Amino acid sequence: MNHPKVAIVGATGAVGVEMLLCLEQRNFPLGKLKLLASSRSAGKHMTFRGEELTVEELTHDSFQDVDIALFSAGGGISKEYAPSAAAAGAVVIDNSSAFRMDADVPLVVPEINPQAAKNRPRNIIANPNCTTIISLMALAPLHEAFGLKSVIASSYQAVSGSGAQGIIELEEQVKAIATGQPFTPKVYPRQIAFNVIPQVDVFTDNGYTKEELKMLHEGRKIMGLEDLKVSCTCVRVPVYRSHSVSITAQFEKPVDADAARAAYAGKPGILVVDDPSNKIFPVPLDTTGKDDCLVGRIRRNIVLDNALDLWVVGDQVRKGAALNAVQIAEIL
Ligand code: A2P
Repeated sequence: MNHPKVAIVGATGAVGVEMLLCLEQRNFPLGKLKLLASSRSAGKHMTFRGEELTVEELTHDSFQDVDIALFSAGGGISKEYAPSAAAAGAVVIDNSSAFRMDADVPLVVPEINPQAAKNRPRNIIANPNCTTIISLMALAPLHEAFGLKSVIASSYQAVSGSGAQGIIELEEQVKAIATGQPFTPKVYPRQIAFNVIPQVDVFTDNGYTKEELKMLHEGRKIMGLEDLKVSCTCVRVPVYRSHSVSITAQFEKPVDADAARAAYAGKPGILVVDDPSNKIFPVPLDTTGKDDCLVGRIRRNIVLDNALDLWVVGDQVRKGAALNAVQIAEIL
């Protein structure tokens, strides 16, 4: 697409604001930019490339002159308005989970399965779950080299994954504890300050949470591996931004740490940061506001055959959401 007209639905939200930043920083060849949000935000101004743009209220008629619509206003809004955008001729890139598992909607990480974006019969492309994107950025190069069979993972997910309210809850609890004031958790089921919570999203019948099952189902779809086995425990931690994932991955072929590090050479979007004896390993603060995911602590697993342990960190607002969506727009 040459100089497409782009709309951001949910432009005032955490991911929407980051989308604006990504379009600006990546010098996206835009024809025109339209900012859409709820009636609460209509008339507000946001700056893009030094120019003031006015936020408009989202309606079913918002997409007449739009080529690409980046949606990040929650699943309900996507379900209601994405079909209108697609019918008006826009390609929808949807950050919610509304369409991810639909057979006729491609689920795309541009570094992994860019070709999938070409086949979009409903004019909708889905942006995967943030923890899934970050994990797969580390796993895809290893799969290419050694053939991925199974994944056992635990995530350490930042509070910004719950939007602005998650950040406020952590801040307020830290202040309340420091000053001896009482507080009641609202966003999270338990105290998040100075604690970790082994629940992200709601529980399903088999004891896994929805977030944990996204790693399985979305992972299979993106990697094109129908039989991939994935078991994950998703944990909320008192970190503002950037998710970390501890992964044990088993492969078809023999693996070792050096061969694994070599498999990342030249792969876009993922950098090896792995010299533990010199205190060099990725931490969430290293990736915050950055495009690349970082992988380290790579070692041969001593329990399973042909298996590696590793630690991957990525900014979930950026590569886990806004950047990935803008990268999809770039390959259209
Ligand atoms: P608004 O700021 O006007 O409420 P976050 O996930 O960070 O909470 O952001 C959610 C985004 O979705 C915001 O931009 C928000 O706009 C937008 N949004 C929420 N409800 C609606 C709605 N009914 N119509 C359009 N945009 C909405």
